[in-house]
Order: sequence, then structure tokens, then C-alpha cells
Amino acid sequence: MAEELERSVLVGRLTRPISGLMATTYRWVDERLGVTDLVHQLLYEAVPRRGAWAYSLGSATLILIVLQIVTGMFLLWTYVPSTTEAWLSLNFIEHHDEFAAIVRGMHLWGAYILFVVIGLHMVRTFVSGSYKKPRELNWIVGVVLFLLVLGLGITGAMLPWDQAAYWTATVVTHVVDYFPIFGTQLQEILRGGPQMGPATLTRFFAIHIWLLPALLVPLIGLHLILLRRHGEHGSWVNYEGVEEETEAERAERMARAEAPYPALPSDPGYAVPMDLDDFFPSQVFKDALVSFGLVLLIFIMAIVIGAPIERAANPAALNYVPTPEWFFLPLDQLLVQFPQAWMIPVGVFILPGIGTTLLILVPFLDRTPGRQPWRRPEVMVPALFVLLFLIFEAMLAVNRLFNL
Ligand code: HEM
Ligand code: HEM
Repeated sequence: MAEELERSVLVGRLTRPISGLMATTYRWVDERLGVTDLVHQLLYEAVPRRGAWAYSLGSATLILIVLQIVTGMFLLWTYVPSTTEAWLSLNFIEHHDEFAAIVRGMHLWGAYILFVVIGLHMVRTFVSGSYKKPRELNWIVGVVLFLLVLGLGITGAMLPWDQAAYWTATVVTHVVDYFPIFGTQLQEILRGGPQMGPATLTRFFAIHIWLLPALLVPLIGLHLILLRRHGEHGSWVNYEGVEEETEAERAERMARAEAPYPALPSDPGYAVPMDLDDFFPSQVFKDALVSFGLVLLIFIMAIVIGAPIERAANPAALNYVPTPEWFFLPLDQLLVQFPQAWMIPVGVFILPGIGTTLLILVPFLDRTPGRQPWRRPEVMVPALFVLLFLIFEAMLAVNRLFNL
């Protein structure tokens, strides 16, 4: 009954700005498509009440990816994916098309800020122990999403076909050759032949604009379906006192739980947050504010700094030293620290391979029962060490490349 009332209030809210014929039309469509029910389901889902600002990072990641897709689609109106025209088309944008220059700046700064936000989202879900039962698979899907976004960053950097892009593509496809067993085949697939050439740009363009997005979009869908299935875990602040609860109190809390809780299977006490709220309006408001702030920041960076473009690619300029994108600095530094013979096998494949495998296995390696980070030193201390190591490597790389 209460739900019926809520739904009719919602229909009222949705149709209030539309009067007369429009309202009748809305009702006609709604009866057939069930728009109101869908909006109702999306908005009135239970979420944990406490820590809501930290849970805005996932939706901010989503909004920034949508922004990348939209700005990318606009860029396709002018960008020409050919080795002779790519640089010219972007150079034209920079000097003669103010709107496209801002869109291009937004695509670049959107990517940079996306990397920061997705990294923070990862750190947040890690510190909260959100990967624990029953959300292990959603963590693994997240790791794959992270790798796909990194792939989009690196393939995007090759598209301007300026000096930086050309030499980055050369280095990346050179490294791929060392991949065990089918390295040479992989290199030829990426280069579109044994040597770098026009087909190389076409390949990276195709990977950037449809292959990776075609994998990314359905996987984001899966991430969100799993999120809806188990509900937001939130963080330890939502489970204070679970250990002191009696069996009867816990059973009563489980029985009172609103959908999608209780999230099962789960460690005792962690199936339902202590205090729930509706997704709308409180969480939606916080999500919207954070995402809006980030999009505004991207817009400002696009106007103030924009997207640089170097000289056109020159395969004869052998003394050119490409500077990697900032998010690859730790890996770049790691590479130069190894002796020549180990550099690529260990620096590119073995260490990052071990790192990715450990990241995927986090939910199965962490056997600690609680959620508070200070009660999980077995996972928090190594993770902190890895994070500090990556920051330290990035600083060394900046020092080496820019002589600071
Ligand atoms: C394309 C990138 C991604 C998108 C669009 C995305 C989106 C979201 C959204 C909207 C939420 C719910 C709100 C929140 O808790 O912030 C969420 C939760 C979650 N995400 Fe992601 N995410 C992405 C990448 C990742 C990555 C890289 C990881 C970790 C490796 C990850 C792991 C998780 C986990 C474990 C949850 C559940 C959090 C909880 O229940 O407390 N996600 N994600
Ligand atoms: C998460 C998604 C994406 C990320 C992280 C990303 C990242 C990037 C980056 C870093 C660049 C290089 C910008 C520069 O140095 O100028 C780039 C270029 C480009 N991207 Fe994306 N991109 C994404 C999605 C897309 C999509 C979906 C499309 C097409 C619909 C697209 C189309 C383009 C085009 C045409 C360029 C070349 C223009 C230019 O370099 O300014 N991108 N992308």
C-alpha cells in the first residue's frame, strides 16, 4: 500500500511539468513501457546511510566514461585516422575550431581525471574490504575494467600521430614482440604488418574507438548488475557493533532488511548495513554534486590548458625520447632499473603480471574476518607498501625525464 502511494507520488512528480495532452500521452506510454516502475526501481533502492560521499566515486567513474564516449564521438567528426591526415586534422582543430579544441581538451583531461577517480574508487573498495563475500566477482570485473581503461588511455595517446604518439606506438609494439609464444604474431596484428606503417594507426584507432569500448560497456553493465544484486556494502562505519550483537538481534536485523539486502552468502553480521537510506534523494544528490564538480574541473582544464600537440610524426628522428603518459611513469621507471637483458621480460611481463594476478586474487587471499582496515594489517600493509613504491617510482621517473 505504502509502495502504491509512493509510486503515485512519483507519477505525479514526473508528470507535474507536463500538463493536459502531454500527461495523457505520458500515461499511455507509461502503461505500455513501465517507465515509472523502472524509475521507481532505480531510485528507491536501499543503500547504506553512512559514508555516502566515498560511494560517489563509482558513479563519478561512470559519468566520466560516458563523457569520454560523448567527447570521443564528437572528435570523430573531424579526426581523420590516417598517418598523413591525423596530425593535420588535430592541428586544424587546435588553430581553427574553438569548439572542437575544447572537446579535445575535455577528452584528454577527462582521461587524466578518470584515471585518478578510478584509482580512488579502487582504493576505497579495497580499504572497505568491499571485495569480500559475496562481492568477489564484482572486484574481479573491476580489475578487468581498470585494465581496459588503461588500454584506452594508451591507445588514445597514439592517435594524434605526432612525435609522442608515433614513438610511443613504436616502443609499445616493440615490447609486444617479447610476449611469450605468440609475441611476433601479436606484434604483426597490432602493427598491421611486420613494420610500423599506415595500418598501425588504423589498428590502434579501431582498438580505441570500438574494440575496447565494446568490451568495456557490457562489463560496466555486469559490474552494475552485480552491484544491484548484492547491494552496496559501503564501509566498516555501517557495521559498527555487529560483533556485540546477539543471534536474536542479528536475525531480527536480517528479517527487517530492505531489498536488495540481505547480501548472501556473507560473513556473520555483514549481510545488512546497520542503517539504510533510499538511493534517492540523498545519495543521488551527493553523486550528482561530485560528478558535476569533476566535469566542471575537466571543462576548466580544457579551456585553460587544452590538449597539446607536438610536431608531426617523423620516423627518421631517431634521437627523439618519448615521454610516457604520467599514468605509465612507474612502469617506465621500473624498466630502466633492470639490466638490458631483463628489462622487458621482467619489467613489462613478469612484475606487472604478478601484480595483476595478485590484484585479481585479493578476495581469495584476504582471509581476515573484519572490515576495519586497522584490523586487516595482513592486506593493508603490503598494499600500502605497493602504493608508496609506485609513487616513489613515478617521482624517480619525473626526476630522470625532466631533470628536476
Ligand atoms: C569502468 C570503471 C568502473 C565503474 C563505472 C564502476 C562503477 C561502480 C559503481 C557505480 C559502484 C557503486 C558505488 C560505489 O561504491 O562507488 C561500484 C562499486 C564497486 N566497484 Fe566499481 N566501477 C568501476 C571500476 C572498478 C574497479 C577498477 C574496481 C576494483 C578493482 C571496482 C570495484 C568495485 C567494488 C568492489 C564495488 C562494490 C562496493 C561496495 O559494495 O561497497 N570497480 N562501482
Ligand atoms: C574510457 C574511455 C576513453 C579514454 C580513457 C580515452 C582516452 C584518450 C586519450 C588519452 C586520447 C589522446 C588525446 C590526446 O593526446 O590528444 C584519446 C584520443 C582520441 N579518442 Fe579517446 N578515450 C576514450 C574513449 C573514446 C571513445 C569511446 C572514442 C570514440 C567514440 C574516442 C575517440 C578518440 C579520438 C577520435 C581520439 C583522437 C583525437 C585526439 O587525440 O585528440 N575515445 N582518447
